[in-house]
Amino acid sequence: MRAARGKEGASLARPRGAALLGLLAASALLALALPSFPGAGPCWGANGTRGCPRPARRPPPALLDELSRRQRDLLRLATSAGDTELGLSRGGRLGCGDLSRVTELGVVGSGFTKLVLRAALPGTGAIALKSVHRGGSDVSRCVQRYGHPAGCHRLASYKLLKEVTLLQRLDHPGVVKLHGQCYDNSLDPEIRVIAMLELGSPLEMIQLLQTPWEERFKICLSLVKLLFYLAHSPLGSIVLLDFQPRQFVMVDGNLKVTDMDDASTEELSCKEDNDCTLDFPGKSFILKCTAAGKCDGLNEKKNLFNAYRYFFTYLLPHTAPSALRPLLGDILNATGDLRYGINETLGAFEKVLHLYKSGLYLQKRLPLLKEYITLKGFRTMEMHDYKCWPSYSHLGCLLSIYNAEEAAAICNSQPQCQSFIVTQQRTWTGRPLASFRSSLTDLIPDVNAVLYIKRSAPSRERL
Ligand SMILES: Nc1ncnc2c1ncn2[C@@H]1O[C@H](COP(=O)(O)OP(=O)(O)O)[C@@H](O)[C@H]1O
Ligand SMILES: *[C@@H]1O[C@H](CO)[C@@H](O)[C@H](O)[C@H]1NC(C)=O
Ligand SMILES: *[C@@H]1O[C@H](CO)[C@@H](O)[C@H](O)[C@H]1NC(C)=O
Ligand SMILES: [Mg+2]
Repeated sequence: MRAARGKEGASLARPRGAALLGLLAASALLALALPSFPGAGPCWGANGTRGCPRPARRPPPALLDELSRRQRDLLRLATSAGDTELGLSRGGRLGCGDLSRVTELGVVGSGFTKLVLRAALPGTGAIALKSVHRGGSDVSRCVQRYGHPAGCHRLASYKLLKEVTLLQRLDHPGVVKLHGQCYDNSLDPEIRVIAMLELGSPLEMIQLLQTPWEERFKICLSLVKLLFYLAHSPLGSIVLLDFQPRQFVMVDGNLKVTDMDDASTEELSCKEDNDCTLDFPGKSFILKCTAAGKCDGLNEKKNLFNAYRYFFTYLLPHTAPSALRPLLGDILNATGDLRYGINETLGAFEKVLHLYKSGLYLQKRLPLLKEYITLKGFRTMEMHDYKCWPSYSHLGCLLSIYNAEEAAAICNSQPQCQSFIVTQQRTWTGRPLASFRSSLTDLIPDVNAVLYIKRSAPSRERL
C-alpha cells in the first residue's frame, strides 16, 4: 500500500487530537463551499455527455448542509470531555509512515460505509486497516443522489473520523483497540483517513450456536460489560444506533465492538413521556421524560434491548446447565421487557457466573465417583474417540466440568463412556476440561492428568 503523505504525515509529533482539529479546520470544506470554486455548475464532457473534469464542481447545497452538519458533530465530539491527555494517549502509536511497511494485504470485511483490510506490520503483527469503501452502498447512494463523488467521499470520511475520535476516547476490553491512524488531506478536496486497529475475526452467529454454553455465556457477559461501560462512559451514555452482530468482531475469544461511526452520545430531548418511545419490530416501550427534558436512560435501554434480541435470545438459553435455566430465563424476560437497566443486568450475569464457577448449580446427586478407579499421573494418547456435543475438541468428547464427581455423572450418562481424564487445561472461568473416552489404550505418564476408569469397564483387563 502506498504510504499516504499529507499534512498529517508531517504533524505526527503533535498530539493526535490537534492533528484532527487541524484537518477539520483545513481549507477543504471551505473551498468546497466557495461559489467561485473552479468548475462550478454543470459541466459537459468532450462527447457531449455530462461529466466533470477535476477539480470537481461545488457540491449541491443539500450535500454541503450534510457535510457541515457532520463536521460540526465531529468538532463537538473532538473538543468534548475526554479530549485531554487521557484521550490523546490512546490514539495509538502508528501513523502514516507505518503504512509503507505493511505487507500481506487482504480484505477481511466490508460494510455499508467502510472497507477493512488485514495487513502484516513488522514488529506489530497483524492489524486491520479501515478506510472508506469507495464502492460501498453509502458512497454510491450519495453519489446517485448528489452526483458529487468527492463530496460524498468526504462525507463518508467524516464517519470514519468520528469512529476514530470515539475509539481514542474509549478504553475498554469490549472496544476494538486503535493502534493508530493516518490522515491525508493533500488530495484536497478529498481527504483520506485510514484507521489502524487490532485485527479480529467476524462474528459468526451460526458457528457460535455450536460452541459450548460457557463460551456463549462469555460473549454475552462481555457484551453486558461493554454496555455497562458505554452507559457510564466519560462521554456520557453512548448508544450504538446500528446495533447488529456484524458490528462486532472476536479477538482472542473476546467480543469487541468495531463499528462506532453510528454511535451517539446525545440523549433524546422530550416534553412528555410520549416523546420517549423506543420502537422495535413488534415491540415498543414508552420511557419517562425527566424534569430536565431528556428521555431517561433511552440510550442505555436501546442498547440493552438490542443485546437481548440479537445476542441473549440466541446464545444464552440452550444447553445451559439446568439449574441455571430459571435465572437465565429471568434475565431474558427482564431484558426483553426492559424491566432491568444495564446495572441490574450486569448484577444478574455476575450472579450466574458465581453460581457456575462455584459449582452451586450442581444438583445433589448420589456419589458416583466411587464407581471409578483413580490413576494419578496418567492419560491416554490423544486420538479420535466418540464425539459429544458441544465438545471443546473435534477429535472427541472434551467438556468443561466442575469436578471429577460431575465428570463421573457425565460419563455415566453416556453409553460409550468407559473412562475420563481430568486435564490441566482450563476454560475461561477456570474450570478444568475433561476428556471422555470409550477405549483405554496407550496409557502414557502425565503428571498433570488424572485418569478415572469405570470399574465395570470391559477394557480393564488391558491395564
Ligand atoms: N478490527 C477488525 N478486524 C477484522 N474485521 C473487521 C474489523 N473491523 C471491522 N471488520 C469487518 O469489516 C466489516 C465492516 O466494518 P464496519 O466498521 O462495520 O464498517 P461499516 O461502517 O461499513 O459497517 C465488519 O462487519 C467486520 O466484519
Ligand atoms: C415475561 O414474563 C411475562 C409473565 O410470564 C410474560 O407475559 C412476558 O411476555 C415475558 N416477556 C418476555 C420478553 O419473554
Ligand atoms: C449504575 O452503576 C453506576 C456505576 O457503578 C452508578 O454510577 C449508577 O448510579 C448506577 N445506576 C443505577 C440506576 O443504579
Ligand atoms: Mg458495520
